[in-house]
Amino acid sequence: MARALATNATQGHVWEEFSSQTYKELPPAGMVRGLHNPVRANKPINFQPPGGGVGYYRVPTLAGIWATAPFFHNNGLGLYNSDPSVAGRMAAFNDAIEKLLWPEKRLGVQSVMRTTEDTELPLESGYRLKIRKDTPVKLIASINAPQLQLLRNDNFFSRFIGWLIGRGRLYDTLLRRNLAPDFVEDRGHTYADGLTDDEKRALIEYIKTF
Ligand code: HEM
Repeated sequence: MARALATNATQGHVWEEFSSQTYKELPPAGMVRGLHNPVRANKPINFQPPGGGVGYYRVPTLAGIWATAPFFHNNGLGLYNSDPSVAGRMAAFNDAIEKLLWPEKRLGVQSVMRTTEDTELPLESGYRLKIRKDTPVKLIASINAPQLQLLRNDNFFSRFIGWLIGRGRLYDTLLRRNLAPDFVEDRGHTYADGLTDDEKRALIEYIKTF
């Protein structure tokens, strides 16, 4: 959902003059239910996207899609082999298209990006927020920044909040303030699910001709 929820072209944001009034007046898209919760796996996330432009997505063309795997706006689906040769692109395409059409081949919750070591995030105030190893990256990266105002000043209170976050204690709070709580990177869509294996194989050959 991340790209559909980008706020840059909404009212009051940096690219507001590049979007139409119609876009800015779009009503909220529907509720999204049952998203994977990386903090408490047994408590799926329900999320209501706000209106005002976000929540919608215009799909890019599939022309030349054989050459541009891995798929999805975040390159989250399929092998990323950094090999621009035709053979390399076909290898990446074959892996990605299999995962697109047979969703059970995706990595699922294993594709949730987490920090691989203890790190520090320097904030504007000079305070260095400690982030524990294994923290879901989007828990911090997709946070609603104005709602983290309390960390803007470097004082006893903000240090206490920062300490709690560093101990992994405020993850539920961070989750509630997340602007796009869709943590599974290779989720995308599962259209074509109803096709037989033979139909999917035929579809792959057809897609290669685009
Ligand atoms: C058999 C039917 C379909 C096939 C084979 C298919 C194929 C694909 C492929 C290959 C991509 C990746 C594009 C890229 O990374 O550049 C994609 C993305 C996408 N498709 Fe489909 N699609 C199908 C049906 C649909 C339908 C019916 C919709 C909408 C109602 C849809 C909406 C999207 C969207 C929104 C994305 C972007 C997802 C993202 O970037 O995260 N697709 N599709």
